[in-house]
Order: sequence, then structure tokens, then C-alpha cells
Amino acid sequence: MSGMNEPPAYRADLRIDLAAIRHNVAVLSGHANESGARTMVVVKSDGYGHGASAVAEAALRSGADWLGVASIPEALGLRERGISAPLLCWLYQRGDDVAGAVRAGVDLSVSSEARLHDVVTAAESTGHTARIHLKIDTGLHRNGAPAESWERLVALAAKAEAEGTVEVFAVWSHLACADEPGHPSIDTQAERFRLAHEQALAAGLRPLRHLANSAALLTRPDLRFDMVRPGIAVYGLDPVPQEGDHGLRPAMTFRSSVALTKRIAAGESVSYGHNWTAPTDTNLALVPVGYADGVPRSLSDRFSVLLGGERRPVVGRVCMDQIVVRCDDDQVAEGDEVLLFGPGDRGEPTAAEWADELGTIHYEIVTGMYRPRVTRTVVAEDTL
Ligand SMILES: Cc1ncc(COP(=O)(O)O)c(C=O)c1O
Repeated sequence: MSGMNEPPAYRADLRIDLAAIRHNVAVLSGHANESGARTMVVVKSDGYGHGASAVAEAALRSGADWLGVASIPEALGLRERGISAPLLCWLYQRGDDVAGAVRAGVDLSVSSEARLHDVVTAAESTGHTARIHLKIDTGLHRNGAPAESWERLVALAAKAEAEGTVEVFAVWSHLACADEPGHPSIDTQAERFRLAHEQALAAGLRPLRHLANSAALLTRPDLRFDMVRPGIAVYGLDPVPQEGDHGLRPAMTFRSSVALTKRIAAGESVSYGHNWTAPTDTNLALVPVGYADGVPRSLSDRFSVLLGGERRPVVGRVCMDQIVVRCDDDQVAEGDEVLLFGPGDRGEPTAAEWADELGTIHYEIVTGMYRPRVTRTVVAEDTL
């Protein structure tokens, strides 16, 4: 019989360590401060899966000045949660609630005449001056105004500023290969960025500049300009681990607990397809998480978990709701904690390890974890 006083067993839970977020923001904004730059913490995609408003509040208490999101609903969601800090939104399109964003004091990125027109219209209809950040495409060739249209965009923005509908707060861009320090595109983009800023000055604007993501913030102090925009490093995942230890602490731990234990005989096989056969008699632990909870099925027979203080292999296929852990002759019990990934402090796998095994990046692992059946436990104890 299980005891009444045992700690609760987690089925599939993301433990979010806000002390780690605060530590990381303090490290990153410390670097930014050395260069006289402010720090915009990127909390798009629900704070890379960690919870946007909790991360935002923690970041603003630890050295961040600004927040950045991709979409207008994300920006308005933060405002609804009472977050009034400067906030930039950079990807919206015709039909989106631009007026709502302007009314809520959300800064908007502008990459085209059409978006400038939308913002000016929103400013006129709301009676608010809209603050904008003109985005130049310096070579990523994703969002941003192409160089050919920059001069005209800048001139139109200067006219709108003179008329009082917009304030051009910044000129900005985004790097393609910042996580490959020394890649020649970085200097090419930086040069094009300088030129675009000069053109803005020549048009009579006085914008600030921001370019650097986490990787550039950590490796290129000369590109910090007036503000930096770290995302992944805020969550403690290093985009440039090959450059040394940057003192970041991963904030997300994915945990579960043992739901059932049993022993099988040598020669018995486990899970759908019977892909794994026990070479010896072995104890097994059933863990109630599967691919519906963010454990990729393609990790089947290729990963391990921390259980009972040891790394133990997951055997057989990952199912929708369950995985099976091989425990040999060790005794593990129902309710024992299982760490699927975390900071690695206790020897558990990390999100980076999953990403390497899967041929992807840790960004994709953490942003994909929060799902309807997965809980999130935000832990806020102050260790700073
Ligand atoms: C425009 C922009 N700036 C900054 C970031 C933060 O990048 P990172 O997470 O690599 O620090 C992102 C994220 O992709 C972004 O889209």
C-alpha cells in the first residue's frame, strides 16, 4: 500500500526554475552592460516553452529592460498579465490587431511600406503615437526590408515621424550564422547594418540599433550596439558551447515518476514490435510519458533516463503514453522520480543531448515540450 505522506508523483511535468532564469539574465545583461547596451529578453513561443509571463517577470527583476515576441497575440497576452515593460513585436500581417498593439503600447517592427501604412493607420485611429523599429534585411533573407527598398522606407518613416504618427525608436536586423563564430556572413551583415543605420541618420532619424541574439551577445561584443536580444541563453541553453562555458543554467527539467514495476525473464521482449529482447532476467519500470508528452518516438532504443540515481536505458519503442526503463537487478519503486532531461547536475540527460541524438537543436526540444497533458510547475525560490 502506498503511504499517505509520500510526495506527489508527477506524470509528465516541466519544472521551470526561475532562479536559473534570473541567474542567466543577470549574466547576459551583465555582458550587455559592459558594452553600454540594454537587454531585450525574447519570450516568444510562450517563453521558449517555459511560460512567457513568469519568465518575463523574472527577467525584468534581474536586469532585462525590454521584452521581445513574434506575434501580436503574444504581446497582448503579456499586457493582459499586467506586464507594462517595453515590448517589441516583430511579425504580424494584414488583418492582425495592429490598433490593439498600438493602444497597448507595444512597439512594432516595420519591414515594408505596407506594414508602415498599417501602423500609421492604427496610430491615427487610436490617437496614439506608435513606436516602431525599422528592420533591415542584412542577409538572413527572411523578415526585414531588402536593401533596395530601405531608403524609401526610411524616408516614409521619417515623414510619418514628422507628422507625429510614429516614433522611429530603432533600426534592427537579425543574424543568420551567429552560432558559427567566425562565419563570414556575420561581418557582411554587420557592415550592411551599419550602412542602413547611416541611411536612417541621413534621413533625419535618430534610431538606436540592435542586432545581437544570444550567440552574438556572447561572442561578438562589438555587435552589442544599443541593445541585445538574447533568447535561448536566457533559458540556460548555450548556443555556442564550443566557445567555452558561459555559466548558464538550464531552467527546464522534464520529469515523471514510476507508475509500475515488474520483472521479466531473459528472452522476453518489450513494447510494440518487440524490438528489444531482454538478454538476462531484468526488472523494468514503467514511466507514464510518451510521444504525446513530447518524448520523440524516434528516440526509441536511443536514450536513457535518470532513475534511482543512475542513468538507465529506455528499452523498446516509445509509445503514445508510456516508456519502459531497464533496471537489471536494481530495486526501483512505484512513485520514484524519473528525470528525462534537465540541467544535468545530477547526471540526468540534457535537452542538448536529446537534440544531438535527434539531429536538431535544443531550441526545438524545449519549445515543443509544453502540451495539453503536460503540467508545468514554476519554482521561484530566490537563490540570487
Ligand atoms: C528576431 C529575433 N531576435 C532574437 C532572437 C533570439 O535568438 P536566440 O534564441 O538565438 O538568442 C530571435 C529568436 O529566434 C529572433 O527571432
